[in-house]
Amino acid sequence: MSRRRVLTGIKPTGSPHLGNYVGAIKPAIAASRDAATDSYFFLADYHALISCQDPLRVQRSTLEIAATWLALGLDPERVTFYRQSDIPEIPELTWLLTCVTGKGLLNRAHAYKAAVDANADEGVDADAGISAGLYMYPVLMAADILMFNAHAVPVGRDQVQHIEIARDLGQRFNHIYGGDYFTLPEAQVDEGTATLAGLDGRKMSKSYDNTIPLWDEPALMRKLVMGIVTNSQAPGEPKDPDASHLFSIYQAFASAEESAAMRERFAQGIGWGEAKQALFERIDQDIAPARERYRHYMAHPQEVESLLLRGAERAREQSRPFIARLREAVGLRSLAQSGAALAQSQKVAEGLQPELKQYRDSDGQFYFKLAEKSAGVLAQSIGFANGREAGAAIARIKRGEAAIANGELVLDAAAVAYVPDVVDPADAAAALAALVAQEAAALAKKQSAS
Ligand code: TRP
Repeated sequence: MSRRRVLTGIKPTGSPHLGNYVGAIKPAIAASRDAATDSYFFLADYHALISCQDPLRVQRSTLEIAATWLALGLDPERVTFYRQSDIPEIPELTWLLTCVTGKGLLNRAHAYKAAVDANADEGVDADAGISAGLYMYPVLMAADILMFNAHAVPVGRDQVQHIEIARDLGQRFNHIYGGDYFTLPEAQVDEGTATLAGLDGRKMSKSYDNTIPLWDEPALMRKLVMGIVTNSQAPGEPKDPDASHLFSIYQAFASAEESAAMRERFAQGIGWGEAKQALFERIDQDIAPARERYRHYMAHPQEVESLLLRGAERAREQSRPFIARLREAVGLRSLAQSGAALAQSQKVAEGLQPELKQYRDSDGQFYFKLAEKSAGVLAQSIGFANGREAGAAIARIKRGEAAIANGELVLDAAAVAYVPDVVDPADAAAALAALVAQEAAALAKKQSAS
């Protein structure tokens, strides 16, 4: 039975706010409790470097975000919870994907285009101040997702294009290298709650500076809620909940019944002050119990660190063998194996059937013979005092450590076998090469089967 893999990342820049909670953390944690899913949640700290070059802030924010998810109920036993930069296979996959990414595709990515448009508005060079990191953002994100073959990626609407790009790159890679390497992910946008309005009514976002931080003191949170912009309707005037972002925020926290009741109070003309107080109380009801846990983690960063390292270890149990498979797929391979495989196919085409056989003679010594089905004996060994020594020489010859030179089969600069005078040394060399190739091919087959 294969379970549905759900993966999501959060960029650790700045302190977590209610928008992160409603849009990503809360639904993701709720979904992670479903026994039919395998959840992968991670801190996208490589992504953070694109917009934040303050090391202390990156570190601090990574701790804050990790503590936030843990405090809000993420169970690290059930969820694979890790830090992106603890998985070196992710940047490696990023490069493999980069090489199947059309540059034009990245030119059309929203975040990059928005930066270019902003430059155009200011009349400066199109790429002024834009790092290649921003440009590559979607490829790194695709690597995050494809590495764990996620089926579903819960994200805000603004991230949907990134998931489409991940699908596109996964599909291209599968097509180019001819295999079902990657599962194609689907964006999962919760239409009801995906974007939370901020203090000014625009989407709550760090970049708009309109956020309500999750972990402020209750008094401060209340003050911010009281500052949410509303219209100038007086208490007693009926109000339209659907035109009010105060109501939309309330709805993001409340149950359906609570929302229906609040809708009714709007119709009856609840005053904005009273509505804000009700909103603050509803938010605090969710946040208060987690606040204690959050404080605990912030005071014990070592606990968070070891949880993340354990999560990374679990994640790498998948990413290590997977990247090995992908390297193989693209041709980043051991030369010994691929050279041997090549030689193997050539020799088999020539119909050679070499054998290297050990035997004991009447003198009590141990010998081996290199023979080929139609050509007969091509090399005859010297005598070995015991079978173990002869066996060791055979094993090394099969691994390709010996060569035919001047009518001798040479191992470690010493002749261990001789090509009979009636045999062309070139035939012996061809049989030896074919033998090595067959051994290597058999070994590779055994390894890929296990
Ligand atoms: N780009 C996402 C954001 O800004 C964060 C992110 C990075 C992500 N990698 C991801 C989300 C992979 C989902 C899957 O919110």
